[in-house]
Amino acid sequence: MEFDTETAAPRQIYNLLIGLVAPRPIALVTSMNADGGLNAAPFSAYNYLCTDPPIVGIGVTDRPASSFVPKDTARNIRRTGEFVVNVVTEDLAQQMNICATDFPAEISELDMANLATTPSSVVRVPRIAQAHAALECREYTTMEIGRSRIILGRVVSIFVEDPYVDPAGPYVRADELHAIGRMNGLGNYVRTRDSFMTIPRIPYEEWKKNRP
Ligand SMILES: Cc1cc2nc3c(=O)[nH]c(=O)nc-3n(C[C@H](O)[C@H](O)[C@H](O)COP(=O)(O)O)c2cc1C
Repeated sequence: MEFDTETAAPRQIYNLLIGLVAPRPIALVTSMNADGGLNAAPFSAYNYLCTDPPIVGIGVTDRPASSFVPKDTARNIRRTGEFVVNVVTEDLAQQMNICATDFPAEISELDMANLATTPSSVVRVPRIAQAHAALECREYTTMEIGRSRIILGRVVSIFVEDPYVDPAGPYVRADELHAIGRMNGLGNYVRTRDSFMTIPRIPYEEWKKNRP
């Protein structure tokens, strides 16, 4: 089947893109509103984009209301210029999903999900205490594109619990962290447990030597 994105409905494009650009890492983003209240919401239109400087990107689609309005996360980041990406691992999957519920403004997702927070090192927005790893970010820029916002965050501090770091690299012990990924939007996620295959990069000299 082929789909013309000029004529397809936004929902169809969404369904297809999130099923094909998968698996995706999940950022459980903590942010702070103007009164200092905390917000938490998951985003899988998320990745790191470069490392020098260290930049992550998050795609936040506006919420359809009487007109389209920015989600709390996007609004908070615009106001405070700060946020934290909490890495979603298997043990946080259910809580992450609760944070995606559209609760009334006065209800805290963190309370509903039984998630505690702990101070970050650099930014004012706290990280989630139960998260094994987190990226503290300052808003670099936000691009408003149609009904979406692409938020670029400069990572100013990286937290990883000691057992999940091999200090030799340092490398993240990804085979022990058990981060999860989002698949096609039908509530499907992928585990990263027992699913590693190792494919070393091939230096050109080696490639030439082994060429048939
Ligand atoms: C796993 C998962 C990934 C999601 N990814 C995105 C995303 O990339 N962009 C987006 O706009 N919404 C995404 N959502 C929906 C938001 O989490 C949801 O709209 C949330 O209520 C926004 O909260 P906020 O208004 O407090 O920012 C995702 C939901 C789930 C469960």
